[in-house]
Amino acid sequence: MTARIIDGKARAEEIVKQLQSEISSIENKYKKKPSLAVILVGENPASKVYVSSKHKKALEADIHPIQIDLADSISEEALLVEVEKLNNNPDVNGILVQLPLPKHIDEQKIINAINPSKDVDGFHPINSGKLFCGIKDGFIPCTPKGCLDLIKIECTDLSGKNALIIGRSNIVGKPMSALLLAENCTVTIAHSRTTNLEELCSKADIVVVGVGKPNFVKGEWLNPNSIIIDVGINRISTTDGKNKLVGDVDFESAKEHCQAITPVPGGVGPMTIAMLLKNTLDAFISQN
Ligand code: GUN
Repeated sequence: MTARIIDGKARAEEIVKQLQSEISSIENKYKKKPSLAVILVGENPASKVYVSSKHKKALEADIHPIQIDLADSISEEALLVEVEKLNNNPDVNGILVQLPLPKHIDEQKIINAINPSKDVDGFHPINSGKLFCGIKDGFIPCTPKGCLDLIKIECTDLSGKNALIIGRSNIVGKPMSALLLAENCTVTIAHSRTTNLEELCSKADIVVVGVGKPNFVKGEWLNPNSIIIDVGINRISTTDGKNKLVGDVDFESAKEHCQAITPVPGGVGPMTIAMLLKNTLDAFISQN
């Protein structure tokens, strides 16, 4: 049987509408709107697209977007100064520095410089530490937070489920493991050195894949009752010379071998932005 397609785009639109209505109802009380500052360094085409989507969706939610475009050649020190200006600006509630940064800049140093109470990406070690300790007042990284929302729509009781996460990044794999562990899943993290990936996939009730390898996970590996969440966004060339976006899961084969699956595009991507806006509203409320 063909799998249910999890409509992340529709769910994200629902969340953005809810946020917009919440923001309009609190605007009178605070006499201002939440604001989100996004720093884009350089000309990475994918980053430009992501940043422009964040800007557009922020406007839809009635969040004030502030975009700061900086040259690829900016020094680490100058970027730290920009972050510090935003930390000290009371009109900025959320700060996001779009990754990746140019090679000459130490990403972790920049992340560490963001005030944790404005770190709506949830990448600061204070926020990741809170997530891993089960302390609820930190910011949760947007992509895994969005994935969990979609998983919960498909499966209301996650307790005891076998969750397999493929990829161990700080942005997706590691925080996803903490979130699923908090839902009482039995969590396995697989990565590039894992030797029995197909066997792990066949036993998993939930698979979250974020490895950046187009069509990597094959349908034949999957458990027929599984929920598949594809975090990958890969641009590939097709035989007719065109470009196409695909995930890390081979969607065509996977949809014949699982219970539910997120498409690419239209799955996790829009949820990441919706959760960023949700974190920004939370930042605004806690700062006011
Ligand atoms: N680059 C890819 N995904 C993300 C994200 O969620 N946040 C930031 N800041 N950069 C990214």
